[in-house]
Amino acid sequence: MSNNRADLPPLCTVPYSPYKPPHSPLVAAQRFYDIMRQRRSVRFFSDAPVSEEVIRTIVAAAGTAPSGANKQPWRFVAVRDPAVKKEIRTAAEFEEREFYDRRASPQWLADLAPLGTDWNKEYLEIAP
Ligand SMILES: Cc1cc2nc3c(=O)[nH]c(=O)nc-3n(C[C@H](O)[C@H](O)[C@H](O)COP(=O)(O)O)c2cc1C
Repeated sequence: MSNNRADLPPLCTVPYSPYKPPHSPLVAAQRFYDIMRQRRSVRFFSDAPVSEEVIRTIVAAAGTAPSGANKQPWRFVAVRDPAVKKEIRTAAEFEEREFYDRRASPQWLADLAPLGTDWNKEYLEIAP
């Protein structure tokens, strides 16, 4: 693909190369499913330290996500300062209280009930 315009830089795309899958589509799908079914919404966190290298690698993985016009309209912020984490928790809990006390529909609250969640976000200060 080309933009065919001398006044524009060439499109930055990865060239297509014939792909030879190492497994059948079914095996590939099963392997992918085996990874994905281990994903969970996490509501409890360890306070064990996480190295900057790990954080950078995780952010690099997140940064591979597609975005409209490849604008990558995100900003990642890693917070270690306990005082800042406390501020974030306070702000988040304010919004969550609004949600639980006013914004959420009765049906939504009923659906949340079995999960045992509420406005409290203690983990925002625990997660490293
Ligand atoms: C848009 C969205 C909103 C969610 N809202 C809440 C929420 O308010 N409280 C909560 O505890 N989990 C919330 N979750 C997580 C879901 O409850 C969770 O994905 C679902 O129970 C399935 O569990 P799993 O993610 O561990 O597979 C939300 C997930 C999404 C995608």
